[in-house]
Amino acid sequence: MEQETLELVLSRHGRQPHLLLQILRELQSVLGWLSRATLSRVAAALDLPLAQVQGVAGFYRFLNTRPVGVYRVLFSDNVTDRMSGSEALLAELCQHLGVAPGAVSKDGLVSVDTTSCTGLCDQGPALLINHHHVVTRLDSRRVAQLADLILAREPLAQWPAHWFDVQDSIRRADVLLGEPMAPGLALSAALERGAEATLGEIRTSGLRGRGGAGFATARKWSLCREAPGAQRFVVCNADEGEPGTFKDRVLLSRFADAVFEGMTVAAHVIGARRGFLYLRGEYRYLLEALQTVLQRRRAAQLLGSAILGHNGFDFDIDIHIGAGAYVCGEESALIESLEGKRGTPRIRPPFPVEQGYLGFPTVVNNVETFCAASQIACRGGAWWAGMGTAQSSGTKIHSVSGDCQRPGLYEYPFGTTVERILQDCGALDAQAVQLGGPSGVCLSRSEFGRHIAFEDLPTAGAFMVFDASRDMFEVARAFAHFFAHESCGFCTPCRVGTELLERRMDKLAAGRGSGADIDVLFELDRLLHSASHCGLGASAANPLRDTIAKFRPAYEQRMKWLHFEPAFDLDVELSIARRLTHRDDAGAHLENET
Ligand SMILES: Cc1cc2nc3c(=O)[nH]c(=O)nc-3n(C[C@H](O)[C@H](O)[C@H](O)COP(=O)(O)O)c2cc1C
Ligand code: SF4
Repeated sequence: MEQETLELVLSRHGRQPHLLLQILRELQSVLGWLSRATLSRVAAALDLPLAQVQGVAGFYRFLNTRPVGVYRVLFSDNVTDRMSGSEALLAELCQHLGVAPGAVSKDGLVSVDTTSCTGLCDQGPALLINHHHVVTRLDSRRVAQLADLILAREPLAQWPAHWFDVQDSIRRADVLLGEPMAPGLALSAALERGAEATLGEIRTSGLRGRGGAGFATARKWSLCREAPGAQRFVVCNADEGEPGTFKDRVLLSRFADAVFEGMTVAAHVIGARRGFLYLRGEYRYLLEALQTVLQRRRAAQLLGSAILGHNGFDFDIDIHIGAGAYVCGEESALIESLEGKRGTPRIRPPFPVEQGYLGFPTVVNNVETFCAASQIACRGGAWWAGMGTAQSSGTKIHSVSGDCQRPGLYEYPFGTTVERILQDCGALDAQAVQLGGPSGVCLSRSEFGRHIAFEDLPTAGAFMVFDASRDMFEVARAFAHFFAHESCGFCTPCRVGTELLERRMDKLAAGRGSGADIDVLFELDRLLHSASHCGLGASAANPLRDTIAKFRPAYEQRMKWLHFEPAFDLDVELSIARRLTHRDDAGAHLENET
């Protein structure tokens, strides 16, 4: 059975080593988990060292290298899920099922654990089952019913279908979230205009990337177009791992044509024949619908050979699915992952536009950036530049969640104030907004008049609201845990620094902190910022730095101790050294040192 499955999956992927991650995902979906024997067979079949295959399997959280339950339940663990009661619901489910959190039940039926934000903050608490199905708007009743279905071993296909419904919750639409554009309209306009002139329109539009860094899209495309290379690639970054962000999920479920059309326009401009949509593992449930859209576009000559009758313009798109690693949203890590490797960010330069996928020039853009590009191709750069502010043209979509009456997506021209969004979403008593997710900025009331734009407050799209009842220390502590959990471990400042941040915050939470701990947090912030290899480490201390500056009493009330207390017991840590040297006399203990 296993050999047959292996053969089937390998031949579907042409036995190509750079499809290793997709091969492992598919094998796991049939076999449940990836044993050492399975990994050895894969390594032999792809002619890869076993250590490399094990390294990849061990890197991704959604790949199981140990036996797991028949039902694998993962609660989304963003701070907004916690605010709507996810921790208590997880405990209830574990109690119903008689299983400890994080463990597999004795009969191998079920495991219940947490995972980083699943991008459903507008309808949480939410959970993911078997890395495929999502259940939203959980409450005690649904949790009890879910436990009954699991205990009765009811197949997921028999569960109430409406449990798996995901709402699009578009609350305020502008040009991107309004009426969908007819498929092919932007592409026809781009083909008529020609590649050079289309690039000119993107330049005139002033479009900047929506994935966070705000790099000028025309410059990125033009660098890629001019870079030497026999092939070029277009990659859409749909990893959307920043907690609190879910706009790309909605764009993909409702405006997939615009995303694929933007990718095809980019392909026309840079001269690419292949593209990839890198879809985060948490959005696996969107795959079939996305494949259907791709098929429809092929049938309509919007993908494939001689697109819209233009001989020599051939382009098609494959979907690659991630496997639960936030760092894979970083563009060079994403390319490593696309190549079937661990998602470790590359040393740059060279940048992806020069040497990206398989070493060829590659454009990587966010989902929203491609949607904007298709609008610009259709309606022109000047039209786009007419919206927004001087340095931030066009509109921006915000994923609003947390303490507000109307969570969901809000699209505004750049330059809108934080206050305006708070009013529109019904946030009556906000004390803070975490803008751009944990790696963004935490704003206090006095800053709500600021403007969302690259000139003032840049954002990748998350807008989490915290009312006056929320403890901002606990919010920052949850983010510290997130970064420590998601650090890929490649560089020491981040691997160790995020762990130290987490420990300090836990120490403060336990009421054992002092002013010295705050100094250490600032020192760690400086270290992470200056010495980390990628943006994850560089921004890991942002939430602590901001909340200490703006919500200091939340920290001070925990500092019962005025004197310094170490974060760990050095004498206990030295016990291994004592064992190795066969010494346990008084002189070998710290307090007896002379
Ligand atoms: C840790 C980390 C995670 C990231 N995650 C994402 C992501 O999920 N989606 C995204 O578009 N960009 C993400 N980025 C930014 C990408 O590296 C890259 O800048 C972006 O995809 C470029 O597209 P744009 O020019 O359209 O913004 C992330 C960056 C870092 C450092
Ligand atoms: S900063 Fe963190 S996530 Fe980035 S490469 Fe270093 S260890 Fe990995």
